[in-house]
Amino acid sequence: MSEEEARERLGPALWDAVPAKWNSDQDDVLVCTHVRPETHDVKSFLFRTPAPRLFRFRPGQFITIEVEIDGEAVNRCYTISSPPTRPDTLSITVKRAPGGKVSNWLHANLKPGMAIKALGPAGEFSCTFHPAPKYLFLSGGSGVTPLMSMSRTFYELGEDPDVVFVHSARTPRDIIFRNELTMMTHGMTKFRTGFVCEQMGEHRDWSAPTGYLTLPLLKSIVPDLAEREIFCCGPDAYMKNVRAMLAEVGFDRAHYHEESFSFENLSAEEKAEVQNLQAEAPNTGYTIEFTKSGRSIPCRPDQFILDAAKAAGMRLPFSCSKGVCGTCKSKKISGQVVMNHGGGIRQREIDAGMVLICCSKPLSDVVIDK
Ligand SMILES: Cc1cc2nc3c(=O)[nH]c(=O)nc-3n(C[C@H](O)[C@H](O)[C@H](O)COP(=O)(O)OP(=O)(O)OC[C@H]3O[C@@H](n4cnc5c(N)ncnc54)[C@H](O)[C@@H]3O)c2cc1C
Ligand code: FES
Repeated sequence: MSEEEARERLGPALWDAVPAKWNSDQDDVLVCTHVRPETHDVKSFLFRTPAPRLFRFRPGQFITIEVEIDGEAVNRCYTISSPPTRPDTLSITVKRAPGGKVSNWLHANLKPGMAIKALGPAGEFSCTFHPAPKYLFLSGGSGVTPLMSMSRTFYELGEDPDVVFVHSARTPRDIIFRNELTMMTHGMTKFRTGFVCEQMGEHRDWSAPTGYLTLPLLKSIVPDLAEREIFCCGPDAYMKNVRAMLAEVGFDRAHYHEESFSFENLSAEEKAEVQNLQAEAPNTGYTIEFTKSGRSIPCRPDQFILDAAKAAGMRLPFSCSKGVCGTCKSKKISGQVVMNHGGGIRQREIDAGMVLICCSKPLSDVVIDK
């Protein structure tokens, strides 16, 4: 049914009373309505739009937020931890990264009534893209958020899929959403949780397993893991461990989906790519100057600026590397680029001279404010 037909059927007065869908291209402001401490180093931030709007997203998707810190606009991705079944509000759940710029700023500064900018939603890590009779959710630390949004969605829709949710944390006091997950096991007959803690911490009465997640432990919690659609999110080392365990049992990779939150550690493939680029890249092409770091690097016309920066050993924020998330958004002070983005930047930002360096190739020498 078209919007026109829906308006006709509902009647204009009723139709106009229904808030429109949030569109971050036109209206990118989110107002914080509530801050909820989840653990000693994790907080959830709830948002609404200034004028009533409905959020529509897939459980597991993320938004890219932009905050101004010391006069500089900084972008980071955060998974929407709330379910799409509560369309009037949207929450993100942020773990403090030691020394991290944005997570610490949010914890220290973002209060109800304050506004931030946001872009999205984006991402393909969602069970809604891979419906299955049985799921296994595996998370470590703040990687719980996309799986929480998926679980909350099942719970609120009154669906009762067969889900085993195994969450790993440092100690029992680090388990995010512990009470809510436990509550969900009472409300859904086929929803089970398993918590695995590295150490007991101060919880001397902790009776669940301690240590890292191992294959025997995983098999004991989920004997039928081979029959499940697996969604995994957590620190890189955790996901590497999970992939190794699944390879050991010959798990079909077509039924395994993962999301990485980190951009700090380059994967083995990325490192190899960077080394190749270094070997291949002659000092011809264009010069990219980064004003804040004071670095000038060579970049070939067929090379993305981010790849050239990585090849030169620079550490710049990025996540998706395909022009979707907006993490690498930077101000171009001069020069020309050709950019082939996937929605991670708005037209008005492009008009204002912003570029996504992961998907921009130089057409001249370029100066970037970074
Ligand atoms: C799709 C997606 C979804 C995400 N969802 C969530 C979520 O739901 N919850 C969540 O908490 N996070 C999430 N993240 C991670 C989030 O985007 C941030 O990366 C995280 O909050 C850290 O950002 P920061 O600005 O605090 O840290 P940054 O300033 O980016 O630093 C990260 C780490 O690197 C170190 N570091 C920074 N610069 C240097 C340097 N020059 N040399 C050495 N070390 C350095 C810092 O000390 C810190 O430990 C998600 C990421 C992605 C890509
Ligand atoms: S890293 Fe995601 S848009 Fe560039």
